[in-house]
Amino acid sequence: MHSATLARSVRLFRAFRNEQTDRDTFYRVLAADSADQVAVHVPLAGSLLLDVGGGPGYFSDAFRARGATYVGIDPDVGELSARGAPGQNMLRANGTRLPVRTGSVDVCYSSNVLEHVSQPDVMLAEMVRVTRPGGIVFVSFTPWWSPWGGHETSPWHYLGGHYAARRYTGRHGHEPKNRYGTSLFAYSVGAALRWAAACEDATLVRAFPRYHPWWATWVVRVPGLRELLSWNAVLVLRRGRGRRGGAPVLCGRAGITPVPSPSSVPVRSSSAVPGRRWPAGRSTAR
Ligand SMILES: C[S@@+](CC[C@H](N)C(=O)[O-])C[C@H]1O[C@@H](n2cnc3c(N)ncnc32)[C@H](O)[C@@H]1O
Repeated sequence: MHSATLARSVRLFRAFRNEQTDRDTFYRVLAADSADQVAVHVPLAGSLLLDVGGGPGYFSDAFRARGATYVGIDPDVGELSARGAPGQNMLRANGTRLPVRTGSVDVCYSSNVLEHVSQPDVMLAEMVRVTRPGGIVFVSFTPWWSPWGGHETSPWHYLGGHYAARRYTGRHGHEPKNRYGTSLFAYSVGAALRWAAACEDATLVRAFPRYHPWWATWVVRVPGLRELLSWNAVLVLRRGRGRRGGAPVLCGRAGITPVPSPSSVPVRSSSAVPGRRWPAGRSTAR
């Protein structure tokens, strides 16, 4: 059961402050909290969950502990292997072109990835596409105008992303890991909400600031203010049947190229996903 109390927000903030020195604790606390947040919207026991941009699978233990079958994808081999050899349930793939069948997962989850993608609307549309009708898309990201929008270059991103990156490089003698225009982009809560409103194949169930106590979630309803005060924004969408019976997804301006129909894609059974069949031909990190 998820309870968005002030004590919980303080606990998360304390864990975040120690992220660099004690990553395991930070991710254990965050992952448990995230799994509880998802469980509010969909039963996790027995579900198939795809984590888009899951890195080395920080959240896998928490989702598995709640009975979900966890599959993570990430395009970056370094991220996939950040905690050692990636497991069989981790695939190397891009969130804007998921090697996953339309309508095949119960939950499509993504945490802190959208702002690292040059085409966030395309990734959102892909997440909707692979989710089964009635399933849930749960996506969170750091809005550009939030205090942490520039990531390690914050708060100088308020003076411009390129300026903040140059300043960071000058001070630290190396470029920031999250490089504006390359691996960090300015995505806003407003843009995400507009995308959701235009998506014909999913309905927005809820938008809220991820870490706030329940009595402060109203900020997400106020244009302008929500960009500054959300810190991290969550969108929860429920997949509908879609205009064409649940196959291709057209969301907003980001019409995506549908992946080939299941009958034309060679498939293999994944040992990580008993009873499920996944498109073959994409490399895993192994
Ligand atoms: C800040 S980390 C977030 C990791 C984890 N989801 C979390 O919440 O801690 C961003 C992740 O997004 C991944 N990423 C970047 N571009 C991506 C893309 N186009 N598709 C999927 N993942 C991507 C990165 O490799 C990285 O692992």
